[in-house]
Amino acid sequence: MPMICLSDFEAYAKKHLPKTTWEFFAGGADECCTRDDNLLAYKRIRFRPRMLRDMSVIDTRTILLGTEISFPVGIAPTGFHRLAWSDGEKSTARAAEAMNTCYITSTYSTCTVEEIAAAAPNGFRWFQLYIHRNRALSEGLIRRAEAAGFQGLVLTADLPYLGKRRDDIRNNFQLPPHMTVKNFEGVFEEESCSEYGLPPNSIDPSINWNDIYWLQSLTRLPIIVKGILTKEDADLAMRHGVQGIIVSNHGGRQLDGGPATIDSLIEIVDTVQDRVEVYLDGGIRTGSDVLKALALGAKCIFIGRPALWGLTYKGEEGLREVLQILHEEFHLSMALTGCQNVSEIGRHLVQFSKL
Ligand code: FNR
Repeated sequence: MPMICLSDFEAYAKKHLPKTTWEFFAGGADECCTRDDNLLAYKRIRFRPRMLRDMSVIDTRTILLGTEISFPVGIAPTGFHRLAWSDGEKSTARAAEAMNTCYITSTYSTCTVEEIAAAAPNGFRWFQLYIHRNRALSEGLIRRAEAAGFQGLVLTADLPYLGKRRDDIRNNFQLPPHMTVKNFEGVFEEESCSEYGLPPNSIDPSINWNDIYWLQSLTRLPIIVKGILTKEDADLAMRHGVQGIIVSNHGGRQLDGGPATIDSLIEIVDTVQDRVEVYLDGGIRTGSDVLKALALGAKCIFIGRPALWGLTYKGEEGLREVLQILHEEFHLSMALTGCQNVSEIGRHLVQFSKL
């Protein structure tokens, strides 16, 4: 079966993964309205393409917090990559390194931060953090990620509690016995690890803006806060000295009924006014989605589920294919809208459909 677009990888994953794994990857919270709206919102936006602008050379490169990447698409943090491919996050790291882009590694990886770093020693990576009730555990993990060469710390802000994912509850979703949340191996009694490989309620629900200061006291890595959806929180993030914001609703897996991320982007970009970098994830499935997000002010976007589909298809090679397709589609969308490089992408490029 020729793989032409990201939905081909989705169809492959749906067909080949065990049902419980597929539903864990695909699931959203409650009625999945926000998950689905993340995708639909792109269809409401149309381009205002410009013509006759010499499209013989197109440059898709951009710079994230001082590091150049080949095009503005990175890999969002998702847990448990060994459910998709036996080498798990090691394959993800290699694919991201090969494609010269940023891989945000989840706290809930099924390989350790050290294994991931060793698999792709020259890769550009940020480490995503969930803060645990046992703060010493989180502190230790930050130090390990920093020592392993991760270049940024991404604090996920939208998960004081886990969203209600109906399929996972129905399926009693568990990690298979041969897989663990590898960074915490040996920390918890195995029998107590009922919820997504960890003891229930192990994430600290008390986390708040002051914890940014706590993180700053522990690390010199730039801090990026993930899960921001309003201008008020974007303002607070800046005041607390973060270097980046990821506009995200966790792929619709947390609060159902929140906005599509692309619909939140404008108010956040307008508030931030280039003082910190703004990124986005959720619902990106084509190169033209990437271009729309950049036109509305995102510096870079990140893919969650499509990366898991690529891994399911052929591990490192499959994920490289997913990224390659997005790269080619983004390149073509730039050409057909008249943008020679990413600095020419701006709000003038889009209109909202009157339909
Ligand atoms: C996630 N996401 C996520 N986010 C995070 O900060 N830490 C994590 O461990 C995970 N784990 C995770 C697992 C799975 C299976 C999914 C689908 C998502 C959310 C993720 O980073 C991102 O916000 C969304 O996946 C983006 O939406 P799309 O690209 O999947 O539509």
